Amino acid sequence: MAFDPNVHLAYQPPAKRHSMTDLGLDPSRALCDFAVTEPFRLLSDEGVKAVRQEIFSEPVQRLCKFTSKRTPSVLRGATQQSQLLKELWYSREVTEAVSDAAGKRISPHPVEYEVAHTNLQDATSSAPVDDWHCDSLPFVVVVLLSDLSGATGGATVLRTGSGKEMAVRIPRPGWAIVLQGQHVEHYAQRAVGVTERTTMVSAYIDADWQTQDNSSLKASRTYSVQSELYHQWAAYRLDALATRAAAMQCNLAQDKAAGNGFDRDQVMDWCTALMSHLQRTVDELKVDEQKSAESPPPPMRPASPLPMGLASPKQQTVI
Ligand SMILES: [Fe+2]
Repeated sequence: MAFDPNVHLAYQPPAKRHSMTDLGLDPSRALCDFAVTEPFRLLSDEGVKAVRQEIFSEPVQRLCKFTSKRTPSVLRGATQQSQLLKELWYSREVTEAVSDAAGKRISPHPVEYEVAHTNLQDATSSAPVDDWHCDSLPFVVVVLLSDLSGATGGATVLRTGSGKEMAVRIPRPGWAIVLQGQHVEHYAQRAVGVTERTTMVSAYIDADWQTQDNSSLKASRTYSVQSELYHQWAAYRLDALATRAAAMQCNLAQDKAAGNGFDRDQVMDWCTALMSHLQRTVDELKVDEQKSAESPPPPMRPASPLPMGLASPKQQTVI
């Protein structure tokens, strides 16, 4: 099935964005003072139906299911099995909509494993759908793909600077939030009273080539085929290096043509940034041999007897 933005999208801008400052968090190390949007509509009903058809297709269910200590059941690499998902998440229309919602120009993550990641609620576990963490990737859009009306829980819960929890509830399938998840701690709550809680989580980087991307593979390597993940990572990082170096070379040539003198400090800064980019590239390729695995994902964890994953509503602010 092909992606058709006129059929599958129904973007409506969020009513509000919450800054990190609003949440009592320090934005100084983040890419911008943005934490999370209010829920907004991204996909049409036809879009939800089409995306669900793809993720519950036989090849995606057979080839893309992984489990990790933090996430009992996820789908990874679905864009490699689905033309629609690949076209949707790399489309100009979706990129523009998600950037508009975030209030910042962002681009789909070039590591394809980080696009169309899907969290499934595991019926055999009482663990959260995705336990407390900060993301390894700068921004994510989280799209709800199942009906949670009548359910308790099911929110994405954020930790504010004061330690209080803020539950963000996406009201309907096809609606979404954007989150600067690398700097806002959060978890995905189980939904009680329904048989399914399915969200698609696609990652984004800053669209500005001059911004250092501090993406990490820390979480990704726990639920990916590692050789494929590392290949995608290396290809992205080398491509970004070439793009950045070419842009610097262009700036140098333009400066010279304009009769400007050679700005030694600026060029040293550029080259230092390139070295930092390469160092991070290498660091993320260093594999813990103990955890290195081409093997299939480990078996699902048995259900825990402890009721986890549903924080008391009394502790939470809800938006
Ligand atoms: Fe996350």
